[in-house]
Amino acid sequence: MNKVELEKRVEELSSLLHQYGHAYYVLDKPLVSDATYDTYFQELLKIENEYPALKRSDSPTQRVGGEILAGFGKVTHENPMLSLSNAFNEADLRDFDRRVQAATTANVSYICELKIDGLAISLRYVEGRFTQGATRGDGTVGEDITTNLSTIRTVPLRLDDPISIEVRGEAYMPKKSFVQLNEARDAEGEEPFANPRNAAAGSLRQLDPKIAASRNLATFVYAIGGDGTDYGIDSHSEALNYADRLGFKTNKERKRCASIEEVLQYIEEWTEKRANLDYEIDGIVVKVDLFEDQEQLGYTARSPKWAIAYKFPAAEVMTKLIDVELSVGRTGVVTPTAILEPVLVDGTTVGRASLHNEDLIKEKDIRIGDMVIIRKAGDIIPEVVAPMIESRTGIESPFNMPENCPECDAELIRLEEEVALRCVNPKCPAQRREAIIHFVSRNAMNIEGIGERVVDQLYKAELVHDVSDLYTLTKDQLIELERMGEKSVANLLSAIEQSKENSLEKVLFGLGIRHVGVKAASILAEEFGTLDELMKADVERLITINEIGDKVADSITTYFSNEDVCEVLRKLKAYGLNLAYKGPVRENLPTEGIFVDKTVVLTGKLIEMTRGDAKKKIEALGGNVTGSVSKNTDLVIAGEAAGSKLVRANELEITVWDELQLIQALGEKEPEQ
Ligand code: IVH
Repeated sequence: MNKVELEKRVEELSSLLHQYGHAYYVLDKPLVSDATYDTYFQELLKIENEYPALKRSDSPTQRVGGEILAGFGKVTHENPMLSLSNAFNEADLRDFDRRVQAATTANVSYICELKIDGLAISLRYVEGRFTQGATRGDGTVGEDITTNLSTIRTVPLRLDDPISIEVRGEAYMPKKSFVQLNEARDAEGEEPFANPRNAAAGSLRQLDPKIAASRNLATFVYAIGGDGTDYGIDSHSEALNYADRLGFKTNKERKRCASIEEVLQYIEEWTEKRANLDYEIDGIVVKVDLFEDQEQLGYTARSPKWAIAYKFPAAEVMTKLIDVELSVGRTGVVTPTAILEPVLVDGTTVGRASLHNEDLIKEKDIRIGDMVIIRKAGDIIPEVVAPMIESRTGIESPFNMPENCPECDAELIRLEEEVALRCVNPKCPAQRREAIIHFVSRNAMNIEGIGERVVDQLYKAELVHDVSDLYTLTKDQLIELERMGEKSVANLLSAIEQSKENSLEKVLFGLGIRHVGVKAASILAEEFGTLDELMKADVERLITINEIGDKVADSITTYFSNEDVCEVLRKLKAYGLNLAYKGPVRENLPTEGIFVDKTVVLTGKLIEMTRGDAKKKIEALGGNVTGSVSKNTDLVIAGEAAGSKLVRANELEITVWDELQLIQALGEKEPEQ
C-alpha cells in the first residue's frame, strides 16, 4: 500500500473499531465477534507500529495505555464541579419538593437517576476528539487524568459529531471487576481495596496508564455542558439523550417522575433492586428536569438547589468496643472515638467509630468491653449506635471523660449551651497541629503532599508551630524527615510555593475562624477584596452583608483582635502570601463598558446564539449572569416566549432588552438605521 492508501486504511480501521467498541461497551449489543474485532485491531496496531506518524491520539489502540507519567497536571474547571445536598428520608424529600414547588411556576417534573458510587469526572472534547479528562478535585481545580480515562472503553475517544463539549459523569468499577481485582491482589500478597469506589479512584490515580487499562473501569455520563454552553437543549432528560447520541454511556435506569409520590416509589423500587445491579449505588439522585426551572431555583456555594441525593439507609453491624480514644480538634473540642474489633460494614473494614460526646455515651450507657451496634452512612464516619445490654458479662467498665486535656493537661471547660468539652489553652499542641492540617486541606490552601502524617512529623521536629512556619521550610529540613525523598521534598516545596498564589477566600477558610466555612469565606473575600479591609470591619459593618449573621460577625472580630493571630497574619504577608480576592468574575476583565458590574438575567429562547454563548460573552465584558430576577438585577434579556422572569422584571421595573439590543451591545452587528 502507498501512503495515501495506508492513511485511508488507518481511518477505515479506526472508524470500524470505534463503532464496534461503542456497540459492545456502550450499547451492550456487540456487532461482531471478539475474533473479528481482534483481527482489525491487530492490523491497525501493525500499521501504526510500522508507521508511527499515522498513529492518532484518538486511535482505538490508545486504550491500552501509553507511557508512564511523571505526575498529574492540574485542571481548572470552567464551571466548578459542585456536589449534591443529601436527603436521608421521606421528610427530607418532601421538604425538597416543597422548596422546588415554591420557586417554580408550572408543574415540575423530576428525573430520578441512580447515584453511582464512584468518582466524579469531567471529559472535554474539542472538535469531536477527547482532549482532557479530569477529577473533581476541590471542585475548582482537579487533576488531569486524561491518559487513564482514555483507557476506559465507555469513554469515546471521538464523538459522532465533531463538536466541542464538556460532559460530566461518574467513573466506577463494576462489582465483578472489584472482586476479581481483590482476589488477584490477595494472591500477590497486596493489600485489598476497601470498596469499589476506592479501587476506581486508586486506579485512576496511577501514573502508569497500563494499570488503569487493566482495571475494567467504566463510566456513566450524567450532565453535559459543564462549561456553560447549552446546545439549544431545554431539559436534563434531553441532555442525556443528546449524550447518548454523541456516543457516551448514560445510565438507562433513569425515570421521569411527575410528582414526589412517583419519586418515592422509584426510590422504594431501587432500594430493593440495587443488590442485583452490576455496580454499586449509594442512593438516588432527584433532579428537576427543565433548565428553566433549574435556573429559577439556582445554586448554593456547594450544590444546585434543583437536585438532591437520597442516600440509602446505612448498614448496621455488631462488634466489640475495645477502648475509647480521645482526640483534641482544631477548636479544642475533645472527642471520644471508639476503638473497635475490626468488622466489615458495607464492604469497608471499620476499626474506629465516633462516639460524639460524653453526654451521648452516658445517655446510651456505652461501656468499654460492650458489644455495640455500629452504623456507617455513605462517606460519613461510622458511629456507635447502641450497646447490646443483653450481651453484657459484667466485666464491662463505664467510661468517664477526663478533667484535663489529654494533650496539654490544661483543665477542660464545658462552654454554655455546648455538650462538648473543650481545651481552651491556645498553646495546646493538638489544636495547633489540627489547625495546620486544616490550613493545608483541600478546600483551604490545598497543599498537596502534606497530610496528617507530615504535619505530625513537622510539629514533632519543631519545624512548624503555626501555619506561617510552613512558608519557612527548607529542603535541608524536610529531607531529614522520615519517608521523605528528594522528589517528595521538591514536590512539597513547590506545592507550598504555589499555594502563595491562592485567592483570599482559600486563606480565610484555612485560618479556621469559627463559623467561617467555605461559603462565608467566599462571601467575605468578594465583599472586602483584601484581608486588610476585612480586618478593619467591625460587627456593624459585617452584619450589613447578606448571609453574615451576628454569630459569624462576632467570631470574626474576636478572631482578628487576638494579638497572636495578627502576628501570624503579618508573617504570612511578609512571606509573600497573596491576601487579595482573585474571584473568577473579576479576573482580567474590562473595567469599563456597558456590562461591567451589571447583573444580567437571560430568559426565553435566543435565536442568533445560545443562552450559554450569550452568558459567556456578557461575562467576558464584565457582567454577572444570574438565574433569577430580583431587585438586584440590572438588566433582563428576553428572548422569544419569555415567561415569568419577564413578568417579574416588569413588576420590578427593570430594563428589558430583546436579543437584537443584546447583539448590538455585544458589538456583533451594526445597529439598524
Ligand atoms: S449530578 C451538580 N447524578 O454524586 C452536581 N451525581 O455529590 C451534579 N453522582 O460526586 C451531580 N451519580 O459524581 C449526579 N446520577 C448522578 C450521580 C452523581 C453519582 C455523584 C457525583 C458527585 C456526587 C454528588
